[in-house]
Amino acid sequence: MEAIILSGGFGTRLRPFTYTRAKSLLPILNEPMIFHLMKTLPKAVDTVVLAVNYRRDQIEEFFCSHDCGKTVIVNEEPQPLGTGGAVKFADQFITGRFFVLNADIICSANLAEMIRYHDKKKAVATISLWPVEHVSEFGVVDITDEGKITKFVEKPKPEDAPSNLINAGAYLLEPQVLNYIEPGKLVSMEKEIFPQVIDNTDRFYGYQFKGHWIDVGRISSYIHVHTFLLEQHKKPFLTGEDCTIHGTLRRSCVGQKVHIGAQSTIISSVIFDSARIGKHVSVDNCVLGEHCEIGDGCNLKNVAVGDNETLPEGTILENTMVWHQPIPAGYPQKQIGNVIGE
Ligand code: GDD
Ligand code: MG
Repeated sequence: MEAIILSGGFGTRLRPFTYTRAKSLLPILNEPMIFHLMKTLPKAVDTVVLAVNYRRDQIEEFFCSHDCGKTVIVNEEPQPLGTGGAVKFADQFITGRFFVLNADIICSANLAEMIRYHDKKKAVATISLWPVEHVSEFGVVDITDEGKITKFVEKPKPEDAPSNLINAGAYLLEPQVLNYIEPGKLVSMEKEIFPQVIDNTDRFYGYQFKGHWIDVGRISSYIHVHTFLLEQHKKPFLTGEDCTIHGTLRRSCVGQKVHIGAQSTIISSVIFDSARIGKHVSVDNCVLGEHCEIGDGCNLKNVAVGDNETLPEGTILENTMVWHQPIPAGYPQKQIGNVIGE
C-alpha cells in the first residue's frame, strides 16, 4: 500500500526558514517534520511517494542518508501542481487504495484504525477530521451522524462554515478518485476534487480521532508544536549534541553545536543548529535560524531570525522577521497551492 506525502509548496507562512529549506525538513524536536509523519505510518504502508518540487534536492539527500523502513520514491513535479495535481502526478505508483498526507501536520490520528473505518464504511474516500474554534484557514465539512460527509468547503468565511469540523490533512482514497483529476494541471484537491467526489459517489466519509492535532503551517504554530511536545514528553527543554549552554532554557528546543552565553534566558523558543547567542540576551517566543549570531544584550520577543543572520549587540526587536539576504529566485510573494482561485 502506498502513502503520498504532499511535501511540495513553498511554505511561505514559514518564511524566512523556508527561504533556505523545504518546509517538511524544518526540525521539530531536532528531527525533520516529515520524519515525525513517517513514524505514524501503519505497517500496511510499504511505499512512500514524496510529492515534491521546491528544494527537492534537500529532501532526496535526507532520505538517501536516513532509512525510514519503507521504500521511498521522490516524485518531483515539473512545477507545483497543487494538492490535487501532485496526487495525480503520482498515479503511476498507485496499486490500490492509498493514503495522501499533508506534510505539515503533527497529530495522533491512528492511520491503521482509519483503514478499518474506511473498509467498514466501504468508502470511496475517507478524510481525517478535527474540531477547531476558528475554521476559516481550513477545509470544513458537513457530516451526518453516520460519518458521511455531504459538503466540503475550503477556507470558508466563518458565516459560511457548515460546522467546526475541519479537514485534518490525512486522506484514504480509492484509486477511482484519481479519475477526477486532470493530469498536468494545477489542481486543488480540496477546492476542486473533494466536492465532485462527494456529489458523484455519496461515499465520502470523515474519520474523527482523539488526542492532539497541530497544523505546523506558520511560525506561531511551529513554536507551539515544540512547547506542546516538550510538555507531553515531560521535558522542560531539549538540547542537541555539542552545545555550550551557560544561560537558562525554559520550554525551548536547541539544535546541535549551539552556544548560549551567561545570564541569557531562552523561553518558548526554537534555536537551530550552530546558532551563537551572546551574554545577557533575552529570547521569548522566537525561532533563531542556523548559524545566526545574536549579540550580547539583545532582547527579542516574537521574532523569526533567518539562517546566517547577525544581530548586533543590544538589538531590541518585537513581532518581526529578520532577513537581509536575497530571496531565492522563484519564491512566491504569496501563498499558492490549495488557495488556487482566490
Ligand atoms: N507536491 C506538492 N505540490 N505539495 C503541495 C503543493 C504543490 O503544489 N501545494 C501544497 N502542497 C503541500 C503542502 O506542503 C502541505 O503539506 C499540503 O500540501 C497542504 O498545503 P498547505 O499549503 O499547507 O495547505 P493549508 O494548510 O492552507 O490547508 C490544507 O491543510 C489544512 C489542515 O492543515 C488543506 O488541506 C485544508 O483543507 C486543511 O484543513
Ligand atoms: Mg498547511
